[in-house]
Amino acid sequence: MKKKQRKITIAIDGFSSSGKSTMAKQLAKTIGYAYIDTGAMYRAVTLYALDHDMIHDDEVDVEALTAALDDIVITFGVGKDGASFTCLNGRDVEREIRSMRVSDKVSLVAAIGAVRRAMVRQQQAMGRDKGIVMDGRDIGTVVFPDAEMKVFVNASAETRARRRYDELRAKGDTEITYEEVLANVQERDHIDSTREESPLRRADDAVDLDNSTMTIDEQNQWMLDLYNKCINA
Ligand code: DC
Repeated sequence: MKKKQRKITIAIDGFSSSGKSTMAKQLAKTIGYAYIDTGAMYRAVTLYALDHDMIHDDEVDVEALTAALDDIVITFGVGKDGASFTCLNGRDVEREIRSMRVSDKVSLVAAIGAVRRAMVRQQQAMGRDKGIVMDGRDIGTVVFPDAEMKVFVNASAETRARRRYDELRAKGDTEITYEEVLANVQERDHIDSTREESPLRRADDAVDLDNSTMTIDEQNQWMLDLYNKCINA
């Protein structure tokens, strides 16, 4: 009889638009694990804050947002096409959370300690039974420091901006320029890696992946090979 494969926790961290979500999603599908995009959770909180008038220019009303955290319920659904989408209090917000309106402010919201603590708690609960692929910035360092497989993904800011730009154009955003996207990517890199609360940092035991010149198929194969190594370790 075939031995039942043990389940592990897989943490994938890296800079914005490094392609980690695409890889994480594909790996989860291939090995039959749940996939959680934690960036989407911070984006959903940001959308809530914007819609409730809690952000003015670059100032977040931290007190109001902290008081509202218990009213913000983030879940993930799976569409008919098999693609997962993010829900904020039961409403599908997948499209809205990817807009520049949200991208422009999300780093500010993700830097708030109370927001991070609430999200980390939810993420740890989601991964309690293992068998999960989670991507973000602090998964291998804070959320699951004991994860059996940790990957740190990087690519140049220009490569990442080009990817995000192509994505936005494909979704019908014809206003945006490549320079605007590059500036947003660089600004987020800066805020994400210099903030006081869980800055983006590579876990000491993470495996590095620079995918600047890799095709998607090559990245998927790389992930699967590493998974097979970790599962048999
Ligand atoms: O991966 P993304 O671009 O969708 O992430 C959106 C923002 O959320 C980004 O500014 C970094 C932040 N983030 C975070 O601080 N911690 C995570 N675990 C995931 C995302």
